[in-house]
Amino acid sequence: MAITISRVHPTFVGEVSGVDITKPLTRDQVDAIEAGMHEYAVLVFHDQPLTDEQQVEFTRNFGELEVTLAGQLASPDKRRFQQLELGDISNLQENGESLRARDDSRRMYALANRLWHSDASFRAVGAGYTLLHARVVPSKGGNTEFADMRAAYSALDAEAKAEVDGLVCEHSIVFSREQIGLEVKSDQHPDKLKPVPHKLVVTDSVNGRKSLYLSSHIGAIQGWPVPEARAYLRDLTEHATQRQFVYAHQWRVGDLVMWDNRTVMHRARQFRDLNEKRDLRRTSLKGVGLEVANRLAAE
Ligand SMILES: [Fe+2]
Repeated sequence: MAITISRVHPTFVGEVSGVDITKPLTRDQVDAIEAGMHEYAVLVFHDQPLTDEQQVEFTRNFGELEVTLAGQLASPDKRRFQQLELGDISNLQENGESLRARDDSRRMYALANRLWHSDASFRAVGAGYTLLHARVVPSKGGNTEFADMRAAYSALDAEAKAEVDGLVCEHSIVFSREQIGLEVKSDQHPDKLKPVPHKLVVTDSVNGRKSLYLSSHIGAIQGWPVPEARAYLRDLTEHATQRQFVYAHQWRVGDLVMWDNRTVMHRARQFRDLNEKRDLRRTSLKGVGLEVANRLAAE
């Protein structure tokens, strides 16, 4: 059975059928999914009952897995999974049963995911693809929204394109947490929290399409006064997240959504019932093109 991808949104997002991703894939299947990622930037797979190991194996088809920063910073007894590649996107305690308290530090840290961002853009090599798999979802709310940064770039006028094309932004997790009033103590992990430069415009190496590499982790633009940079980034983010560029994913158990952080931003949406469980698991790949962008930015 061949893989087919049907369009879900006018500019991005494809729904994939004709593949069981709990099983090892053939080279042709991997190639079809890769091609789909360059075309759609977000792919949705329904009814895929993946285990942790199967999710890691499926992710490995597309590159080198990244170890999450939260996983690195948490002590082993505070982690729900042993694999450092698996990100815990849940509201659960280590036992996997009880819910985290409203003021739990991990919960508060994760609340910054409600801001539009690109995963791990605070790293010298940010995330390429992120894969999120739904194990338990709340009855209402908790959507993930995606914004097409290629369409957002295309919609800029010529002057705005010329301006963004030359800019280099500084990314740090300290900046995104600061926006929700959370202080990340930089004296404990200064090497991991130091701002890293990335070009604001990223070009897809396969099809040459340009996109805006925006993220709530950005706190400065090189060569600009900080207040001017922050005001400008707010305007640009507002432009880039207009409704015509956005797709809201309503999770079903067994959904796997994969997206390219170099071409889309995303954010988590609120769910109000604090007594309901939500358990999603994340794997990410290193964003290869960003290494180049970073090296150029540093020159
Ligand atoms: Fe994220």
